Amino acid sequence: MTSVSLEAKPIEAYLVMSDDEIQERIRRSHDALGSKVIILGHHYQRDDVICHADVTGDSYQLSVAASRSKAEFIVFCGVHFMAESADILARSNQRVILPDLGAGCSMADMATIEQVEDAWRQLEETGILKQKVAPITYMNSSAAIKAFCGRKGGVVCTSSNATKLFEVYLREYDKIFFLPDQHLGRNTGVKFGIPLEKMVVWNPHEELGGCTPEELRSARLILWKGHCSVHGRFKPWHVDLIRKQVPDIKVLVHPECVYEVVQKSDLIGSTSFIIKTVENAPEGSKWAIGTEVNLVNRLAKRFPNKEIYLLAPDLCMCATMYRIAPQNLAWALENLVEGVVVNEIIVDEETKHYANVALERMIQLTEA
Ligand code: 13P
Ligand code: SF4
Repeated sequence: MTSVSLEAKPIEAYLVMSDDEIQERIRRSHDALGSKVIILGHHYQRDDVICHADVTGDSYQLSVAASRSKAEFIVFCGVHFMAESADILARSNQRVILPDLGAGCSMADMATIEQVEDAWRQLEETGILKQKVAPITYMNSSAAIKAFCGRKGGVVCTSSNATKLFEVYLREYDKIFFLPDQHLGRNTGVKFGIPLEKMVVWNPHEELGGCTPEELRSARLILWKGHCSVHGRFKPWHVDLIRKQVPDIKVLVHPECVYEVVQKSDLIGSTSFIIKTVENAPEGSKWAIGTEVNLVNRLAKRFPNKEIYLLAPDLCMCATMYRIAPQNLAWALENLVEGVVVNEIIVDEETKHYANVALERMIQLTEA
């Protein structure tokens, strides 16, 4: 018997097609694939991509949608760590596609598994692990780091459930080793009344993370030195300026923003919290929002009777989310119609097993 190996259509042809043609090709291939495919779209995706999503959501909602979907193919319009999480949670016969493999996350790249294992070894050698230490990783991390947390009794969290999971773990553990976003960790710790001096920052490029053994011993939170370059662009003076320019404005920010911005804001929450808050706000209300520009612009368009501003006047766009262009989506879907799977995201079985432990623990504790 001879087997025919199908070749992928090259992407180059799509790069010269008109926008209208690309949109039409996405619609046609999406229809042709029917229930075989589910397209998931993160809230930061651009309009001409998110309009094709079967499910839109924040990183938590999309991971749950991936775990519940029965479609054979999950096309993830988001970034690499989200597609990896979908592959971890998916059934064995499901396949996950990321339309552009360059769609990464600079924050997730700030912690490698080698650095995390080395940090844990140093904590062990210094005797810190004689205390009960739980590793908790933000969803924005590699599958290998999620697996590390799964193996060590820890968990994954997202910006929408960090408070709930901190509550559980702070009750049962002496300290949390939080990866890789120091800001989400700090902003969540503050909600539990943890003083800033009990939160130390672990710099992976320094011995003992740049801390003394005593600082590590007395800390309640050890925060990995990572951040989001998009949310890091919001500064405290932006809050002062917009309050001066627009009286009665409310400031609503994502917890990846720095502590000083969060402290000056009225409300803090995940992307879906931000959306819900604006949806439920009265007509005429005024909002300055500190998160990714595609989401803020979409809210402004959806609610013309509410005044919506981006907190910073310059462009706060996630360039890696933007890598998922309609051209990539059309290319991935049309290849699928031909039976060719491009840009598949595959997490190896052992990593998948332990990462799944940490992700399922997250879902179970969040929905408890
Ligand atoms: P959410 O968890 O709010 O979806 O945020 C993910 C993210 O990458 C924000 O920068
Ligand atoms: Fe990563 Fe920041 Fe982009 Fe979110 S907005 S995907 S944290 S770089």
